[in-house]
Amino acid sequence: MNKVTVLVGLQWGDEGKGKIVDILSPYYDVVARYQGGANAGHTIVFNNKKYVLHLIPSGIFTEKIKCVIGNGTVIDLEALNEEIDIVKEENIDISSRLLISGNAHVILKYHKIVDAINESKSNKIGTTKKGIGPCYFDKYARRGIKIQDIAFGVGLLEKISDNLENLRRIFPESYELKELSPEMIYEELLNQFSKVKNLVSDTHIFLNNMIKGNKNILLEGAQGALLDVDFGTYPFITSSHPTAGGASIGTGIPVNKINSVVGIFKAYLTRVGEGPFPTELFDINGKIMSERGNEFGATTGRHRRCGWLDLVALKYTVLVNGVTDLVITKSDVLDVFDEINVCTGYDYKGNIISEFPTNPKLLSDIKPVYKVLKGWKLSLNEIKESSDLPDNFKSYLSFIEDYLEVKIKYISTGPSREEIIINP
Ligand code: GDP
Ligand code: IMO
Ligand code: MG
Repeated sequence: MNKVTVLVGLQWGDEGKGKIVDILSPYYDVVARYQGGANAGHTIVFNNKKYVLHLIPSGIFTEKIKCVIGNGTVIDLEALNEEIDIVKEENIDISSRLLISGNAHVILKYHKIVDAINESKSNKIGTTKKGIGPCYFDKYARRGIKIQDIAFGVGLLEKISDNLENLRRIFPESYELKELSPEMIYEELLNQFSKVKNLVSDTHIFLNNMIKGNKNILLEGAQGALLDVDFGTYPFITSSHPTAGGASIGTGIPVNKINSVVGIFKAYLTRVGEGPFPTELFDINGKIMSERGNEFGATTGRHRRCGWLDLVALKYTVLVNGVTDLVITKSDVLDVFDEINVCTGYDYKGNIISEFPTNPKLLSDIKPVYKVLKGWKLSLNEIKESSDLPDNFKSYLSFIEDYLEVKIKYISTGPSREEIIINP
């Protein structure tokens, strides 16, 4: 049977999805993004070169396979064109490899301005300011602009004009909104669109035809399950559904055609932006993770908050995503620790909670309960075979697998393509 797999981040994003999608790509015919936009930053390292992709699927560096930007994404055409130019420098024939859904919505200048206005307030989320929330807001308010609306053109300028006028009413103090002209947005949009129009198609039909033809499809999640609108730490979330369910809506692949869900997590935990983080560290251990893991955002360059692995949160995201296989990344960052903590419960006013509460107030009030495991004190990224892994590391993996009741299939031990161990 052909494989239709979702690869989903199980934490607050940046789990190493780009690297793992790149590694898995040779086993697939298509890689598709199903949600989010250029808020994502997916890093791929090979031949001593580093690439950060924001919108183009991370399968693009694998010859022959097709890459799809699905209907559930929100596309900043300017950012996409910049990225296409970078990829073209690697002699990749984008015209035969990349498909863009006509049903995806576009991010316009005013979305980014509104994102920045909201972020200037005291109750900010800590967004990437890429216009993601305001664009999805328009989508669900039924006044968004789809890629195919640009192709048809009819009523487009009026729509842009109405939307801008509406925003000026909501934010009368914004000089930037006042300065924007609908004509300018319109012209720029047509110009950016002209560079990609040949890539636009009904990607839901293409993907379903691929399934009919017995082809394998990998659905690349952006962000992570703890940033999901419904399952994340609301309101400190992104505005889409990174969870596996979002992959069906965001591509048009029926749910009963998806047959595996690969969940990816970091050996510790990071978060960018605001919001509760029970196992966050403010001590030397957090500093070591940050430095050894080079924990700076691939999109915004912001410092990522660091903390111990939270198995309560992970058990919850394994559950809501229906994870069938696990990938652990960045274990090598923990090589230097004598002892490694993993959170196995939350203490709320003396009561131990073992289910993840999504209420941010409750999450801020609980204290993590830790199981202390022995460190392995050995450099993992020189190891190539699972049989050569140190015993303390094996015990650490077994502890996680037993807690989550899912097998860890891949162990990533460094940023580059070669640094991966299959766990039989
Ligand atoms: P993504 O958003 O999930 O694709 O992850 P990012 O690319 O934002 O962040 C992951 C970072 O960790 C990148 O800099 C990767 O190159 C790096 N990385 C991925 N896997 C590993 C690993 O196993 N060990 C180490 N040390 N770095 C890794
Ligand atoms: P990848 O795909 C980590 C976070 C932002 C902020 C919140 C809302 O690289 O894992 P948004 O701009 O989406 O409205 O911001 O979500 N966020 C991410 N954090 N990795 C990401 O993507 C993220 N995309 C958004 O920091 O807290
Ligand atoms: Mg990232």
